[in-house]
Amino acid sequence: MKRRDFLKTSAVGLAAPSAVFSGTNYKTNKNNPMLVSTWPFGLIANKAGLEAYQNGGNAMDAAEAVARVPEGDPNELSVGWGGLPDEQGKVTLDACVMDSTGNAGSVAFLQNIKHPVSVARKVMEDTKHVMLVGEGARQFAVSQGFEEMDLLTDKAKKAWEKWKKTRKEMTPHETHDTIAVLAQDENGDLAGACTTSGWAYKLHGRVGDSPIIGAGLYVDNEVGAVGCTGLGEEVIKSTGSFLVVELMRQGYDPTAACEEALKRIIKRHNGNPDFQVAYIALRKDGKVGTACLKWSFEYAVARGEKNKLYKTKGML
Ligand code: GLY
Repeated sequence: MKRRDFLKTSAVGLAAPSAVFSGTNYKTNKNNPMLVSTWPFGLIANKAGLEAYQNGGNAMDAAEAVARVPEGDPNELSVGWGGLPDEQGKVTLDACVMDSTGNAGSVAFLQNIKHPVSVARKVMEDTKHVMLVGEGARQFAVSQGFEEMDLLTDKAKKAWEKWKKTRKEMTPHETHDTIAVLAQDENGDLAGACTTSGWAYKLHGRVGDSPIIGAGLYVDNEVGAVGCTGLGEEVIKSTGSFLVVELMRQGYDPTAACEEALKRIIKRHNGNPDFQVAYIALRKDGKVGTACLKWSFEYAVARGEKNKLYKTKGML
């Protein structure tokens, strides 16, 4: 379908729900633990989540385990250790978690700590707060026993030095692949995690959508869990993940909900955004939906023994 036709079709609301739900009508997916995670690295990372389930872990344990895999991989240029730095050559990390009780924790602009997702979980579980940033987040992490280390690898430093010669602005789809993870355990409870090094060569101090509850991640245990990747600024401005959850609450199918949230971004950009945003949604009944603005987007779904990579084509 051409872009113009698509926009025409969407204007008449083909993706709208057949019924408006008040509250939740979704049957809970039980005894069928699941994981949905963004990008091809999600496929390998999901294995750590499946292992967490096998060891008796719940959805939060599994989501955290998945997120820690790319965080701990020095060859991964967009998450955790080895992430591309900001314009000053500093690796600054954003992450958040949200569990089935509606509790949430987050860290932003965190430096020198390899696993921001685990620090975010500590913020959720061991403080009265939701979000810690920068130096305060680092001090908190150290006080909780997290080791400090230099996160700038030779590979990332070389890329930054090359970039400095031209200072060409990098769009997020060129340089970063956030991992968002949605998990549902055997009780049917939902949780999620999201972690990234953000927009490569960003301004020092920039924070994206990934640590913002409701933007990069949102979990409502009655309805579903949603996470995203792509240009964080646009996701923050549309409170993206919360919006997709609320659309599912109203009865939108998970994919239709993701598409509806993206249509608002498309509209704001006069039908022609030149960046990527992709959503993944896991509804309470175990139904998965995704959508992305442009090009294509890959995500991994693990269900029981199966763990498979899927591709979604861009809406435009
Ligand atoms: N979506 C990740 C970021 O914009 O930082």
